[in-house]
Amino acid sequence: MKPLDEVDITKKNERNVNVSRRLLITIDGPAGVGKSTVSQGLAKRLGYVYLDTGALYRALAWKIQQQQADPQDSIRLATLLSKTEIVLLPHGEQVSIQIDGQMIEPRVLRTPEISQLASSIAAIPQVRAWLLPIQRRFAEARGVVAEGRDMGTRVFPQADLKFFLDADLSVRAERRHMELSQRGQSQSLDMVREQMAARDIRDRTRAIDPLCPAKEAILVDTSHESAPQVLEQMMKVIADRL
Ligand code: C5P
Repeated sequence: MKPLDEVDITKKNERNVNVSRRLLITIDGPAGVGKSTVSQGLAKRLGYVYLDTGALYRALAWKIQQQQADPQDSIRLATLLSKTEIVLLPHGEQVSIQIDGQMIEPRVLRTPEISQLASSIAAIPQVRAWLLPIQRRFAEARGVVAEGRDMGTRVFPQADLKFFLDADLSVRAERRHMELSQRGQSQSLDMVREQMAARDIRDRTRAIDPLCPAKEAILVDTSHESAPQVLEQMMKVIADRL
């Protein structure tokens, strides 16, 4: 039998190891499900970096729109990508995005037009392949909450913990409608629902890296729960892994 002191020291070391364990957490799900709020909240609570991968697709869509390029023209797209530099600058639970040295306001990237274009270009294999290493670089720093559509299935299959959030379309559309109104980007509820449904179908049925839960993902239905409730639920699961 070990002397008591030794047992205590071992336990203390175990505790220290556990306390300092920093996880790679992925959160996937469709639009308007509350991923961003929850991901930012978790990153803040845990002191982790927040990785918003949708912002990368949106930034690229913005550049394509600015240049009036046809994303289906693969030669033109290859040239555009070879001349593009996207930098995500995470600072705690916030993230700024720079494209070709220019800082882009998040507001500019969150318009309904950019949402649709981002989802269209996200179905192009060239685009996904180009963005893959940019996203994976973030896993080098542990302590990451990564949000997107294919975080658990494609970008970070080795993640420590994977969540998949889902909710009824009507609930998600109402949330997005309110969010847009608060930003002064008003759109009718019907239009928001229609565009969201179209984006869902495109994201879930595209041939490459479609939106779907990783087989080991924990499914969370956010239809009837507020963001703080969802966050608490997820924190309990995370706490068991720390
Ligand atoms: O998450 P967010 O709504 O900002 O994403 C915009 C679009 O970018 C999505 O509709 C989806 O088509 C695409 N996307 C993706 N894979 C990710 C993140 C976003 O295909 N990991």
